[in-house]
Amino acid sequence: MPNICVLISGNGSNLQAIIDAVAAGKIHGKIACVISNRPDAFGLERAENAGIPAICLDHKTFEDRESYDAALMETLDSYAPDCVVLAGFMRILTADFVDHYLGKLLNIHPSLLPKYKGLNTHQRAIDNGDEEHGLSVHFVTPELDGGPVIIQCKVPVFSDDDAGTLAQRVQEQERHIYPLVVHWFCGGRLTMNNNKAVLDGNVLPEGGYA
Ligand code: GAR
Repeated sequence: MPNICVLISGNGSNLQAIIDAVAAGKIHGKIACVISNRPDAFGLERAENAGIPAICLDHKTFEDRESYDAALMETLDSYAPDCVVLAGFMRILTADFVDHYLGKLLNIHPSLLPKYKGLNTHQRAIDNGDEEHGLSVHFVTPELDGGPVIIQCKVPVFSDDDAGTLAQRVQEQERHIYPLVVHWFCGGRLTMNNNKAVLDGNVLPEGGYA
């Protein structure tokens, strides 16, 4: 049974979706631990409620990014992760960290990559007058939000949307899509080869599975 470790910074709705999918037998894996860089992350409570080791590794108690990521790696490795899932983990990771988990590090990003890497994606989509927006799940590489896309999901942008309503519409889809990708990965169906996402032996196109 693959060990899944989930990194969070906040609410943890994606974490909850993965917890629920594991409990329902839809993901053949075990959530070995949940780690947050923020002590007040509600996702830690979600993990505790599910009986999963919930660890806070507060970035404010470390001198720099390198020492934080080294401690994060040490903690993660004590749970022997087969899959490291970034679920609203709002920190940029060092290249050392990314290289250490390359090929087993997944992220969900609230935009149709390569559009809107970084922060405030919903507001930026509104400000640009986009008619559609969405989310991407991708393998993490040292390039920020630049790793190969596994799957995207589009949602419409309505004229009366604000960043909050649009975020809600995106997050409603996130909770369906991320567990599916983790299921693929844990089933050995999804890999990263030569900086490409490969599903069931097929190299996925640039925008991921369609
Ligand atoms: C999600 O919308 C996720 O796409 C986003 O943070 C939210 C976390 O929600 N991630 C990023 O912006 C990563 N750059 P959650 O804590 O309820 O899962």
